[in-house]
Amino acid sequence: MEKKVVVCGGRPLKGRVRVSGAKNAALAILCGSILAGEKIIIENVPNISDVQHIIQVITYLGARPSWRREDLLSVAVPALEVREAPYELVKKLRASNLLLGPMLARCGEVRIPLPGGCNIGARPMDLHFKGLSALGAQLNLEKGCVWARARRLRGAQVYLDYPSVGATENIMMAACLAEGQTLIENAAKEPEVVDLANFLNGLGARIFGAGTDVIRIEGVKELARPVHYGVIPDRVEAGTFMVAAVATCGEVQIDGVIPRHIQPLTAKLREMGAQITEGEDTLYVQCRQELRPVNVKTMPYPGFPTDMQSQVMARLSAIPGTSVIVENIYENRFQVASELRRMGARIKVEGRVAIVEGVPRLFGAQVRAPDLRAGAALVIAGLMAEGETEISRAELIYRGYKDFEKKLAGLGANVISGADTEPVFAFGEKSDTNRRNIPTHRE
Ligand code: EPZ
Repeated sequence: MEKKVVVCGGRPLKGRVRVSGAKNAALAILCGSILAGEKIIIENVPNISDVQHIIQVITYLGARPSWRREDLLSVAVPALEVREAPYELVKKLRASNLLLGPMLARCGEVRIPLPGGCNIGARPMDLHFKGLSALGAQLNLEKGCVWARARRLRGAQVYLDYPSVGATENIMMAACLAEGQTLIENAAKEPEVVDLANFLNGLGARIFGAGTDVIRIEGVKELARPVHYGVIPDRVEAGTFMVAAVATCGEVQIDGVIPRHIQPLTAKLREMGAQITEGEDTLYVQCRQELRPVNVKTMPYPGFPTDMQSQVMARLSAIPGTSVIVENIYENRFQVASELRRMGARIKVEGRVAIVEGVPRLFGAQVRAPDLRAGAALVIAGLMAEGETEISRAELIYRGYKDFEKKLAGLGANVISGADTEPVFAFGEKSDTNRRNIPTHRE
């Protein structure tokens, strides 16, 4: 059901917040869990809607995941009864495409509806298919589905034209049980790829070089170790709170992070003028001075993360001066710009380049979340803006952020969410009015 969030601006965020497990690591690891020959335990799994969806899909295929406590899952895979993931489930979650590799490795066949594009880009799978075919799989596309079969996977050398995260993960999972050695060259180096490799090695796989350009996988007969594995913290959630702290000139300590994983953002926020102190597993973010406009170019890890681009755009839109953002990863990831313009931002988009002319302040308005990260960016904009901002399609935010409002409220933010059907009232000193008074800055 559609949800709305109302954000009242004007208060600096102060206090401490602990990040949850990484959505994009947990999704890959849960797909990889179908390779497990024994019951396994996975800790620090964020109970968010994307994870709930992938749990539905692997359960449908025959896995038996169950929550032991809020963030701890046990998964047994007695047998894979079904070789086909249903469209109704797959269409909700693009990451279902990460089942291709493990299903081929475990049972030699799988039929998955192609998870079409999404609103940030076409999201093709040609590199996934190139790698899996190199390992000996036959892949046929028909009626919007990919049929993949392989009597026996054999190790191969695969060069990725682009360091695709998903393609690296799919090929790695398939290669675990292939005969012989596989080399993935120009592999993705994201921390979530490394986390998946560490999880698979815990099951008994032999993966070397994850996190570098070349990953080597020595195929084994089975993965039968009963691993107890902890998912890494979510660097994008951490980054989102860092930007929110800077956006409200607050002082926030973020706990349970791996600072190295979010270093590209830390460097960029320091360039803007924020003060950031790194601890072993904490980041302390302060903003005590006028911020400067900066230029941002998204790149594969360890470059600036595309998943933080919308959030930084929101912050830059209220920093006087010109900032230039180049989105090199996705062809359509500037949709938040039109929503920020409704709040008074001045942003000009030309293809993959956005020119942000910072304004003195944003104003609350009724806006709509175009996608997960853009939704988080609009919450940040609402925290900065004068007045109340009502964000519809807020359910998209819950796909990737566990207890988002609760964590923000814990830092002093005035955020309230409600279902679309109820009149939603916001808290906060200025908002004894109901939401019908929210100014709408329609052009
Ligand atoms: C993962 O998506 C993440 N999702 C994305 O996070 C993230 O933005 C992306 O990596 C980049 O870091 C998950 O891990 C579930 P890619 P993925 O394959 O694997 C092109 C979020 O908000 N490409 O590296 O799909 C593709 O079109 C989400 O949490 C091909 O051309 O990313 C895109 O332009 C959004 N052919 C670029 O590579 C292929 O076969 C990046 O895709 C595959 C990809």
